[in-house]
Amino acid sequence: MRRYLFIGLIYCIAVGAVRAQERCPIIPQPAHAERHTGYFSLDKHTPIVVEDPVAAPAAHFLQREMLRLMTTPLAVHADEGSLPAIRIGIDPSVKGEEAYTLQVTAEGIRVAASTLAGLRYGIVSMLQLAQGEATPTAVLKIPAWELADNPRYAWRGLMLDESRHFFGKAKVKSILDWMAYYKLNRFHWHLTDEPAWRLEIKQYPLLTLIGGIGSFTDGTAPAAYYTQEDIQEIVAYAAERNIVVIPEIDMPGHATAANRAYPEYSGGGTEAHPHFTFNPGKEATYAYLTDILRETNSLFPSQLLHLGGDEVSFGSAAWQSDTAIQDLMAREGLKTNQDVERYFMKRMADSVYRLNAKLLAWDEMADAGLPTDNTIIFWWRQDKPAQLKTAWANGYQTIICPRLPLYFDFVQDSTHRFGRRWDGTFNPLEAVYTYEVDGLTSTAAERDLILGVQANVWSEPIPNGQRLDFLLFPRIAALAEIAWTPDEKKAFEPFSLLLKEHLALYRQHGIYYYDPFQPNANPEPVVYRIDRDLSVERR
Ligand code: ACM
Repeated sequence: MRRYLFIGLIYCIAVGAVRAQERCPIIPQPAHAERHTGYFSLDKHTPIVVEDPVAAPAAHFLQREMLRLMTTPLAVHADEGSLPAIRIGIDPSVKGEEAYTLQVTAEGIRVAASTLAGLRYGIVSMLQLAQGEATPTAVLKIPAWELADNPRYAWRGLMLDESRHFFGKAKVKSILDWMAYYKLNRFHWHLTDEPAWRLEIKQYPLLTLIGGIGSFTDGTAPAAYYTQEDIQEIVAYAAERNIVVIPEIDMPGHATAANRAYPEYSGGGTEAHPHFTFNPGKEATYAYLTDILRETNSLFPSQLLHLGGDEVSFGSAAWQSDTAIQDLMAREGLKTNQDVERYFMKRMADSVYRLNAKLLAWDEMADAGLPTDNTIIFWWRQDKPAQLKTAWANGYQTIICPRLPLYFDFVQDSTHRFGRRWDGTFNPLEAVYTYEVDGLTSTAAERDLILGVQANVWSEPIPNGQRLDFLLFPRIAALAEIAWTPDEKKAFEPFSLLLKEHLALYRQHGIYYYDPFQPNANPEPVVYRIDRDLSVERR
């Protein structure tokens, strides 16, 4: 008898240990998660109890999301003591701006955080645990888990280029929904570039009326852009999901669409990139761009203005023959076009700082002498690791977003035809998932300067929402784990298994995802009317 008791005890300990190590069925994988036995059963009588008025918006978010999962809505009630409930409370002992704890037991659920953002993430995790049951039911069983979670990086970003192709409000909102689902929190919106300008600026209406015409694949496409009301709607929608929106007004290069509207500020370009630059030699250019930034800054409460600063050399050859620029060079002792670029950016940086905003820029600006405290550098040129080191040596906070593996306009399968490659290399799901950010650093000081990671979606090969889905899903899920999950909790195999359930969810929501397990399930959507080789379009 004793022997059986002993064997039984060993069995229980072993099962307990396996349970404790079970991978939590959530993407991104939480920092700490422990499975307990049993479930919490939720039905229409289960109240949501708000323990602190600050938590009320989180309770509302939960109510709204529950409409998708249950046949009857849940009500917010006053606390009635011991009744089974979903309790949502502010708890200052949960440390971290976005941290949360979640306890699901047979008796009830409690989500706690010191901030509203943390509460929302706790609720998102709870919703993902409930997901196994899917399609609306009267009773929802949520497996018992105990989570204590906190993101690895404060900046978990996604950049969308809408200059080359315009996707519109509904698609952007859907992307914001999925970002929130994966706990991504920064939406970098690339709104201006060569093909078109997409942001209404009331002081300069031609920017959108003329600059908004065209796209990468159709130079005559009718003007498409976001009105200021649209922008406010999107920014508010994002804020409800704990997502900060950052506009990018690219300068002094990639200015072609703006120059179509207001050619008096053009600094010229090249045959391949006509009117590519703003004119740094004219005082009026600074006033014009400062007006634009002031209006932009009023629309985006993030107080973050991305000014691009990339690839200026693509179109700055004409600066050598522009009299205003030559005068500037003589007056300021500037010897090269790059000196002019840096002079320009410092002037614009002054405007940004006067708006009490931070300046964000691509890694070309890592050695432009911009103030350290108010500037964030985006490292995108994976073939130039020295530029990242320079950014760190100069003390800049950085966002890690290298083309390999974080440009999602790169193809993700060897058979795919429409999208970029880098000397033949592309960005499959596993390369995204296994990307080791810490491998870039050699000191703790460098690691401390990494604010976060971001994937960038340039839209040359993406003329429609279907192709956007195909390039974004499921890589967005892998991005989430690089950005949120500690390295020791990441594992590609179990992630892939869980991802299969997420593919089913994408299908339910009408997302045209790429299926890495059955590559032919959703064939690659063809891009018509591309007459250029995308692999060399932009380096
Ligand atoms: C970039 O891809 N030009 C930042």
